[in-house]
Amino acid sequence: MASKKQDADKLAAAQMAVREVKAGMKLGVGSGSTLNMFVEELGRKKYPFPVVCASNATEQLAKKSGLKTTTLDELVKARKSPEEPILDLFVDGADEVDKSYNLIKGGGGALTREKIIASASSEFACIVDESKIVAKIGKYPLPIEVIPFAVSFVSSELVELGASVIQRPKFITDNGNPILDVTGLDYKDPLGLETELNNIPGVVENGIFAVRQPEKIIVAKDGKARYL
Ligand code: A5P
Repeated sequence: MASKKQDADKLAAAQMAVREVKAGMKLGVGSGSTLNMFVEELGRKKYPFPVVCASNATEQLAKKSGLKTTTLDELVKARKSPEEPILDLFVDGADEVDKSYNLIKGGGGALTREKIIASASSEFACIVDESKIVAKIGKYPLPIEVIPFAVSFVSSELVELGASVIQRPKFITDNGNPILDVTGLDYKDPLGLETELNNIPGVVENGIFAVRQPEKIIVAKDGKARYL
């Protein structure tokens, strides 16, 4: 359970990210408790432009906070040329962040849509409290979204890689799939591992963000936020 101190840090990071948002920006938002604070702050500032949300829960909160929402489909179709960015800025939290800007995400299970939105954005700003900063990613169990048909197959492939696998109990993603929480993988090459895991047939997406790293990491400690 998050402490009051941790919540104050999450809020400080969220408030700093709100200052990154300029009028008219096409904005994507992820999910999780830190991101929720960003959405509420944006609502308080009455941001008038529609945002794309990575989860149904975030979308509900965005609407409740007075924000307008849109979809990735609509923004892709509205582009005048393929060079035009689909989104200008994606803001989201993370479960682990290392100093090379590799992330583990997906504690809330929204990793697939988060990665899609991050990939569609010119810029990705990650907002975290200090507890998320690690020397090397990999302690936090890696969420892997898998199609239901492939749960046993993917699990056995992961065990062959030396991993331990737990299917997240009573959990189905917004895409209708289960999540495997995986420990014991070798993270010496996060980018290679992200690619290798996504090459297992049946894997929808894994929570390593090394291919699409954030451009900015805002980290807060003792109620004060700064750029990493
Ligand atoms: C959700 O799927 C995740 O990627 C979140 O970004 C991550 O779990 C961080 O959540 P908190 O801000 O609640 O720690």
